[in-house]
Amino acid sequence: MRIILASNNRDKLREVREILEPLGYEVISQREAGCRIEAEETGETFVENARIKALAAMKLTGMPCVADDSGLEVNAMGGAPGVYSSRYCGELSYAETCQKIINIVNCSDDRGARFRCAVVCCFPDGREIVCEGTVEGTVGTMLEGENGFGYDPLFIPDGYAKSMACLTDEEKNAISHRGRAFRELAKKLAALNDGADEGE
Ligand code: IMP
Repeated sequence: MRIILASNNRDKLREVREILEPLGYEVISQREAGCRIEAEETGETFVENARIKALAAMKLTGMPCVADDSGLEVNAMGGAPGVYSSRYCGELSYAETCQKIINIVNCSDDRGARFRCAVVCCFPDGREIVCEGTVEGTVGTMLEGENGFGYDPLFIPDGYAKSMACLTDEEKNAISHRGRAFRELAKKLAALNDGADEGE
């Protein structure tokens, strides 16, 4: 089954391909589907923003489209940057932004944090599937690792002694917020197809 991912983020596309292709899904980007848009993320939740992106691509392509919205929540920052994770950097690089967050957390006694991911799949007939995934962890005391992207170098998943950026893609996808949300999507899509087959 072919899935259109409503994202222009190459890192996400790579990870989603690695997660869904072994499960039998071909993932193509919205650009490959001939859809060049950057929907404005005006929602207040990950689910709302994922729905905005998936709906915009679905309306342009006329095909079922999937989008993810994700981000980092830091306890010491009251859950920020959350849905503003990509915009939080402003003019700073990710390395500088990660260091800024580490400095904030160093002044608190709570290093807790989590990555969240919401996935919404919109169908032209108005149906939608919503899935969510979370990975809990802590903010490290220094940046570590070269893999992954974004805030991975500061995030130490629970049960690990190293940051998410020290994990291979395969190791990250096995525990990540995105891995969990997209594997749930694959299950729900399979159940939908089974239901359709039974109805024939
Ligand atoms: P959006 O979902 O495209 O709005 O952007 C999500 C932002 O959250 C990314 O640009 C990263 O800053 C951050 N983020 C989401 N998932 C991850 C991840 O797996 N690792 C590191 N940072 C992430």
